Amino acid sequence: MIDKIFYNYSHIDCLVRESGNSIKEEFNPDIILAIGGGGLIPARILRSKIDVPIYVVTISTYDENNNPIKEPRIIQWTDFSLLKNKKILIVDEVDDTRKTLDFLIQKLTITEKINPQNLGFFAVHNKIKEKEISIKELNIEYYKSGNDVEDRWIIYPWD
Ligand code: G4P
Ligand code: MG
Repeated sequence: MIDKIFYNYSHIDCLVRESGNSIKEEFNPDIILAIGGGGLIPARILRSKIDVPIYVVTISTYDENNNPIKEPRIIQWTDFSLLKNKKILIVDEVDDTRKTLDFLIQKLTITEKINPQNLGFFAVHNKIKEKEISIKELNIEYYKSGNDVEDRWIIYPWD
């Protein structure tokens, strides 16, 4: 048996909108930074609750031939020069190993010199499992997940 769990659009929509209310109260970002592709639809739903611009970066853990790679690679980056003092909420569909997230936060804080106090993260689902890095070690200002879920392969409605 393949251990998969399916979520539909209506479930995702509810989770993101509910989370949006708390994110607005607790972090109140100036911009949403979606991680493509999985973060794109959640980011757009979130904007219905938090009406701020959406920026996008795309990072992959696969090479051009779809083989897994050790170090994530950037497919698309964005211009952060005008965002130095903005509060940025990173959005993704799933908090899995945190490998991509850790890579992105390093790039933002070290290369782009963004203050970690201006960084928050939201994932629709957080898988309960051993992670590459703890939330505390991510060293960001704010963390939220829509739901903590078992470590099973999730099939999203856009998959
Ligand atoms: P993390 O830092 O956000 O935890 O990501 P990690 O590097 O662990 O994840 C690698 C890729 O695996 C990501 O996709 C992530 O979205 C995807 N992934 C992890 N668990 C699941 C799952 O249960 N279901 C689905 N559908 N995807 C999962 P990616 O390379 O960014 O691709 P995509 O977002 O364009 O699909
Ligand atoms: Mg993803």
